[in-house]
Amino acid sequence: MHKNLRFWLRRIGLGLVGLLLVTSLNSYLTSPSNAQGVLQVGTEPAFPPFEMQAPDGKGFTGFDIDLFNAIGEEAGLEIQFQSMPFDGLIPALQTQNIDAAISGMTITPERAQTIDFTRPYFQSGLAIAVRKQNRGEIQSFDDLENKKIAVAIGTTGAQEAAKIPGAELFTFDNSALALQELSNGNVDAVVNDAPVTLYAIKVGNLNNVEVVGELLTEEYYGIALPQDSPNLEKINDALDELLESGRYRQIYQQWFAGEPPDLPLVAPALEGEGATFSWIETFQTLFWGALITILLTAFSVFFGTIGGTLLATASISDFKPLGWLTRIYVDFFRGTPLLVQIFMIYFGIPSLLQGIGLDFSFNRFAAAVTALSLNSAAYLAEIIRGGIQSIDQGQWEAAQSMGMGWMQTMRYVIFPQAFRRMLPPLGNEFITMIKDTSLVAIIGFEELFRQGQLMVATTYRAFEIYAAVALIYLLLTFIASRVFSWLEKRLNPVQRANKRASAQVASSPEVASRSV
Ligand code: ARG
Repeated sequence: MHKNLRFWLRRIGLGLVGLLLVTSLNSYLTSPSNAQGVLQVGTEPAFPPFEMQAPDGKGFTGFDIDLFNAIGEEAGLEIQFQSMPFDGLIPALQTQNIDAAISGMTITPERAQTIDFTRPYFQSGLAIAVRKQNRGEIQSFDDLENKKIAVAIGTTGAQEAAKIPGAELFTFDNSALALQELSNGNVDAVVNDAPVTLYAIKVGNLNNVEVVGELLTEEYYGIALPQDSPNLEKINDALDELLESGRYRQIYQQWFAGEPPDLPLVAPALEGEGATFSWIETFQTLFWGALITILLTAFSVFFGTIGGTLLATASISDFKPLGWLTRIYVDFFRGTPLLVQIFMIYFGIPSLLQGIGLDFSFNRFAAAVTALSLNSAAYLAEIIRGGIQSIDQGQWEAAQSMGMGWMQTMRYVIFPQAFRRMLPPLGNEFITMIKDTSLVAIIGFEELFRQGQLMVATTYRAFEIYAAVALIYLLLTFIASRVFSWLEKRLNPVQRANKRASAQVASSPEVASRSV
């Protein structure tokens, strides 16, 4: 009775705590966008001078930001900006996680199929940027054939560059990274919005980059809203008002030189046709992505194992400084995020080496494998060391008393036993590696996740495509985990002995005659 009461009290208590957590989480997640009159506005703030982080690190600044704040004042709306990746803006609008997006977003017919745009608020166009030393070689769109081109994911620049025959595209999360890539010498050109590239050259540290040729396109930026948003009219009215009152001109001149051009009421591009979505194409693309993921995992595990074994051997050696060095290595690679390591290796090392005058650039596959192998070597080293040290000291002594040397003891006595103990954590590490390869998407490497991202960026089918991507990862990790449990069983001497014994019994003449 007493016990029963305690049991129920505990249950009720737990239930209450759970309820509290859920309700507070729920109100935390939903309150901002539901609050009356507050408009949640998404923006990707690596697109100066349209949107960027404010110099003090607090909030955002730029032409778009000033304009939207003015619209807010005009329309009596309180604005709250939210930073998100550019290719996430349209999906976020579709699910109404945000109420609007201002992000130098070009009005295109494809986008207009899934979201609504306000009237155009800025006239822009795409430009080609090259390194100054290559200026003679690339002067127009046609010169880009068979070249390496960096673009930002989901942008019109990426769309335009995809039309160039033979060009190899390098897709980054934002224009700033693409331009950095050009400056680092890893690509031949960047196709990006002209005002942004010009601003980056003028203000940023890109003094080895310049814009060549004429504008490739004429584009108009619009503010994006979910379909049938009640705010569309309010914002359009406010924009009209700002354009008329001269406030628009004032904001324009804070960020750009000269007079603002006249803007049409409807973007000319909206007269065209949008692209369509196909599941067959999606699966074909994801299939290639999955192959790359497998390849990336295989290479990284291979080199990681070599590195891990060397590190483990060093860490158990009697020579102390070796032990310290491996400790530092392991602590560093386990103690810092893999993402940071990937950035350090891919962007950091080339710019460091170029800084001291060496002409060095990283192939993306090599950079990805290097980062993943260095990282997993740290984990593998610990697994291997732990496995070896878990074998009883007495076994070393026994083997040595039989006259075996270090190498022999390791090979015939210690390692086979240690390896079996290492298998479960090795399996974990392998599965983690399959999933971690998705992080190299950030350097534009087109593995499974990136392929998914790229498809979402053009089709805006976020849920279906990411669900398919998740399923493929699940399939890969499932197969890996099955293989490891099979290995574990196979290497288990007790089971093997039992099997052998039962096989022997079954085939012995005695048993055979008895069964007749
Ligand atoms: N205008 C281009 C587009 O709509 C690029 C916009 C990128 N904007 C940004 N904030 N990153 O595709």
